Amino acid sequence: MECAVEGIIETQNVEALEILLQGLCGVPKQRLRVHELCLKSGPNLGPVSSEVRLLCNLEEPRPTWSVRHVGGAMRGAGAEQISVAVRNTVESKASKNVLRFFYALGYKLEYEILRMGFAFHFQRGAQIKVTVTSTNKMAKLHAVDEIMPLTPGIHLVEVTAPASADNYSEVVSAISSFSEYLAPLLHLSKPGVSAGVVPTAAAAASSLTSDRGGKPL
Ligand SMILES: *[C@@H]1O[C@H](CO)[C@@H](O)[C@H](O)[C@H]1NC(C)=O
Repeated sequence: MECAVEGIIETQNVEALEILLQGLCGVPKQRLRVHELCLKSGPNLGPVSSEVRLLCNLEEPRPTWSVRHVGGAMRGAGAEQISVAVRNTVESKASKNVLRFFYALGYKLEYEILRMGFAFHFQRGAQIKVTVTSTNKMAKLHAVDEIMPLTPGIHLVEVTAPASADNYSEVVSAISSFSEYLAPLLHLSKPGVSAGVVPTAAAAASSLTSDRGGKPL
């Protein structure tokens, strides 16, 4: 399982977010240039279609593919009250033939994108991962060097942490309290429930960028 929230930020405020995250986490960022293929199962695999994503971070010295399936979020009265999604995920490493394998199974390409940006991984009450990326589409199939922005001027921010049935409430509170630190720059909410951009983010961002090199956060 994992706990997740997401939000959006204007690209002009991303530098300030990076400074804030760097100050909060104290670890170097990891660069991301993730080639992502979203596949949906065809009717031969049953009436309920399933979706998998093939991911490969091209920034790594030896890029490798992984397969990720995200299940539905936990529901019920308790789940409605919390502002963090708790959901099942399955992720595993895959070989470079993975796309052909899924095509042979009857999956079809739903979309292909390239996410560019950075990530921070750190421990803060949970093993938190924050990714900040722009989403780009490709001019032709698999042309990762011929891209154009899909959401110009907007970056997506995702905060996730691994959880289990026994500890998810602890992980939810770790994510919620971490999200409060980012509140001057962005609203984080359950994936799919966009809260829009923070109207005063530009002012918060300019004070963060002008403080650079000053007192530690
Ligand atoms: C919760 O459980 C998951 C899965 O066992 C583990 O990876 C994670 O580190 C745990 N988190 C906390 C805060 O205990």
